[in-house]
Amino acid sequence: MKVLIFDNEENATRRVADFVLDTVTKEPNSVLGLATGGTMLALYALLCRKYHDGLVSFSDVTTFNLDEYIGLNPEHPCSYHHYMRNAFFDHVDINLSNTKIPYGNAADPSEEAKRYESQIAQSNGIDLQLLGIGQNGHIGFNEPTSSLASRTRIKTLTESTRQANKVYFDSLNEAPKYSITMGIATILEARNLVLLATGVSKSAAVSDMIEGPISASCPASALQMHPSATIVLDQEAASQLKLTSYYHNVHPQGSDSAFD
Ligand code: GLP
Repeated sequence: MKVLIFDNEENATRRVADFVLDTVTKEPNSVLGLATGGTMLALYALLCRKYHDGLVSFSDVTTFNLDEYIGLNPEHPCSYHHYMRNAFFDHVDINLSNTKIPYGNAADPSEEAKRYESQIAQSNGIDLQLLGIGQNGHIGFNEPTSSLASRTRIKTLTESTRQANKVYFDSLNEAPKYSITMGIATILEARNLVLLATGVSKSAAVSDMIEGPISASCPASALQMHPSATIVLDQEAASQLKLTSYYHNVHPQGSDSAFD
């Protein structure tokens, strides 16, 4: 696990944008795994700027999003379909038919989850999976106690996740109770994982993910099993880590080093 700690959110986000740019520049038809949430908005804004500056093209890229709320149609302003178009897809040259997100309004959500899992399997595999982290350590919508061997399926959201996400809805009642999410095993099959966490509200989950035991109690701790997982943090998100001086020593100011 590579732990890169930056002095602020802007520099952390820049580093993640560079991961995306490097991946797409090396392989224009890369398969990207995308994440949603407030943390990712600055990243997508930056990627849109890089595109407008002529530094990258997404025209041959395929994308798979981590998750979607059950019950929301793609046009719903709080759906992740809407989020992705608004934050990213509508502003770059990506081919919309190559952007995949589970359909939360499918008549049979379980079947939709299976269809999505096989769509990922039929692609050439995800080259770079972007991840955020919930305050309770969830990745995608894999809430605590999710099986570390899980595949794309329906997950019931915890009260804390619904509380955290209710800001986007008119009230807690409006916030969906269920989601379709890639499973933890699905996520771990991506060739490279990059998780971005910023702000003090993520510091406990970040410490459990990096320095705690591998446990379904903190789904993100499963990243410890992945051979190419990079955790990109600002100082606040890193504030409860114990081995901080080691991380700074290996990657001063989040820089790359010859040896990890
Ligand atoms: C949602 C998403 C996650 C995301 C998390 C954190 O639950 N399903 O993929 O990581 O929110 O979001 P935020 O960045 O808003 O804290």
